[in-house]
Amino acid sequence: MVISVRMALLPLIFLLTIERVYSAADWGVSYTPSYICALKGSSVIMSCTYTFPNGYTIKKVFWTKTDVQVNNEFPDLSNDPEYSQRIQYLGDKQQNCTIRLNDVTQKDSHEYYFRFITDKPDGKWFGKPGVTLNITDLHVESPESVTEGDTVSLTCKSTCNLSDRTTFIWWKNTQSLTERNNKLLLQSVRREDAGRYSCAVHGHKLTSPPVYLNVTYSPRNVSVSMSGSGEIVLGDSVTLTCSCDSNPPVLNYTWFKEKESSAVGSGQSYSALQSGFFYCVAQNQHGSQRSAAVQVTVKGRKDTDLMISYKSRIIFSM
Ligand SMILES: *[C@@H]1O[C@H](CO)[C@@H](O)[C@H](O)[C@H]1NC(C)=O
Ligand SMILES: *[C@@H]1O[C@H](CO)[C@@H](O)[C@H](O)[C@H]1NC(C)=O
Ligand SMILES: *[C@@H]1O[C@H](CO)[C@@H](O)[C@H](O)[C@H]1NC(C)=O
Ligand SMILES: *[C@@H]1O[C@H](CO)[C@@H](O)[C@H](O)[C@H]1NC(C)=O
Repeated sequence: MVISVRMALLPLIFLLTIERVYSAADWGVSYTPSYICALKGSSVIMSCTYTFPNGYTIKKVFWTKTDVQVNNEFPDLSNDPEYSQRIQYLGDKQQNCTIRLNDVTQKDSHEYYFRFITDKPDGKWFGKPGVTLNITDLHVESPESVTEGDTVSLTCKSTCNLSDRTTFIWWKNTQSLTERNNKLLLQSVRREDAGRYSCAVHGHKLTSPPVYLNVTYSPRNVSVSMSGSGEIVLGDSVTLTCSCDSNPPVLNYTWFKEKESSAVGSGQSYSALQSGFFYCVAQNQHGSQRSAAVQVTVKGRKDTDLMISYKSRIIFSM
């Protein structure tokens, strides 16, 4: 008899225990994910669910960004002029407390909490810890100085970690590139790779400010130009000018006359007084290059006149 009563009570005790545990755990708010890194200007959905025991009816649901009460209640974000126009409650009065915040700015980086109030005095819940929102912009990180031939990696940076599935878009000047990663690798960079690089995230308007990639290189296309034809009369001179393409600009120009081992002059221009083949060497921090030689010929009347006067002088002195 005693045994049978106990047997009958056991399931009841068990049931009551479950009921109590269940009740205590029945209040809650959960955010998935609880941390969001979002791009400036985007719309952010903060997914949220909540639970409360049976027998309660929801009176009020709202979001707040402070865990400090003002006049015995947390301030409702939808009454905040900074948020009221941008906030949209997508949830319900049952279990879904999802919210959307549009056109986010850096100032929205914050922890947000969901609050619900039921019809019973003890039936209130504050969903702390909340969901943390971190807003980022984008910027291109590139090396300070790049020389032709280097392998260069540009990175599209954000101040918080965006999802691994994020697709990036890269531009050089106004042209879009094929790279879809946050890193843009330029192997053996050429001077043509110089330009303004910017990045964005697929599906978002936000674009990073452009960053100028400055590719430096040694002088090239070194050439000499002459004032006039290169034929001069004795006593006159011809101005030779050395020009080239160089980044940074040429540090020094050196002038040579073919078949002579030492330099005949320096500076971007050189006055040639004698016949011969002249060339220049342009040099910057990265190297040097020589030009082709140009021919300067000294001849003409004065030349012969002088020869005659020389001869006559020679004759006279004899
Ligand atoms: C909550 O509501 C949002 C918006 O209607 C919906 O996208 C989401 O799937 C819902 N979440 C749950 C857990 O029901
Ligand atoms: C956002 O992320 C940055 C970088 O991790 C961190 O320094 C900052 O404290 C975060 N802001 C918030 C509100 O969590
Ligand atoms: C971003 O993620 C990387 C690796 O997953 C981690 O090392 C880094 O600390 C994270 N940065 C931030 C700002 O959370
Ligand atoms: C590139 O760098 C070189 C060397 O620092 C500098 O002289 C040059 O002005 C730079 N060019 C541009 C367009 O910024």
